[in-house]
Amino acid sequence: MPYQRRHNRWSEIRDILADLKSLEADPRYRKAARLNAEFFRTARTPFSFLWWLLFKAPKLRRRREDIVELLDLPLPRWQKAVLETLSWFEVWLGALKLIRDHIIGELETMCRTKQEPIVIASFGCGGMELERQISYQLLRKRFKFPLVFIGIDYSASSFEVARAKFDNLLSRGMVEIKTVDHLGSKELAEIKAAARPDCFSLVFLHEDAFRLRELPENSFDLVYHTRLRHHLTPEERQRLDDLAVYLAPRVVELDDISSVIGIIIVSIFVWRFPSVLNGAVLSYLRDFSQEELVANREDGWNVVFAGRPLRSYLRLHDKPGLTAPAATG
Ligand SMILES: C[S@@+](CC[C@H](N)C(=O)[O-])C[C@H]1O[C@@H](n2cnc3c(N)ncnc32)[C@H](O)[C@@H]1O
Repeated sequence: MPYQRRHNRWSEIRDILADLKSLEADPRYRKAARLNAEFFRTARTPFSFLWWLLFKAPKLRRRREDIVELLDLPLPRWQKAVLETLSWFEVWLGALKLIRDHIIGELETMCRTKQEPIVIASFGCGGMELERQISYQLLRKRFKFPLVFIGIDYSASSFEVARAKFDNLLSRGMVEIKTVDHLGSKELAEIKAAARPDCFSLVFLHEDAFRLRELPENSFDLVYHTRLRHHLTPEERQRLDDLAVYLAPRVVELDDISSVIGIIIVSIFVWRFPSVLNGAVLSYLRDFSQEELVANREDGWNVVFAGRPLRSYLRLHDKPGLTAPAATG
């Protein structure tokens, strides 16, 4: 559990409100800081929060493009707290199982035909809980093939959270970890040349995912992202899809489906952790509903729904004409 035993939600809310107050001085973040401050003021008691859920949340849902979560603001202390606790809930609720099993299946297929190391890239990798789970499952299955995970995230806190999780595998020589500030064709070729079948390579790229556009097409075997797209504007979401499809023959995305029941359940479960309550509830307000996902099915993308009562979806894209993943670069 990432939080200390003596964790006090009142003092956490007080500290968050103080940090949001200082952020209000910056015009770039003023509106978002005020929106979040209102959230945390009402999250002080169950009654005020229920009032916010009944009367404010529906209005926010209607103008969801304006929502910015605490995690999106430049407050490293809270980014770290949210990412640590998000990972913990992802373990506890089995919230990554769908994409984890899908990626493992893809890797098992790829290693039968690939001649060179497999390189898979995660956009907005956060605390890399998914990569931790994939690594453990593959080790259990005695998967012996050079495999490189590239985790891309512009938040420095994400690598701090991720690194701590791999200490055990690192000390046993089962993974090697590298941090890079730039990834071009030359760096990617060097990373692939160093990959070994008996030790997974984990590469942290501290950068905005959109900067990967300079890499050649199909630089990766697979691109994936989890709980990322709802943080982006509609224009950025389209750009992210285009970029992912350009960079890999296969793309897979996991995110939650917006629902009132989901908001109620997560509010009860994460009530003790206000910074996570903020991420969970505001994410649900930003997420697509199942009806929207069905109505907006795009050409080339397949959508699979799963989970009950907390619903999530997998969105998959295979490049036409490719029967087996083939990476170049
Ligand atoms: C809600 S977290 C999800 C983390 C992780 N994928 C998971 O499911 O646990 C979203 C992450 O995306 C990162 N992020 C958002 N936009 C990004 C971008 N343009 N480039 C890189 N990282 C981004 C944030 O810093 C954050 O760590």
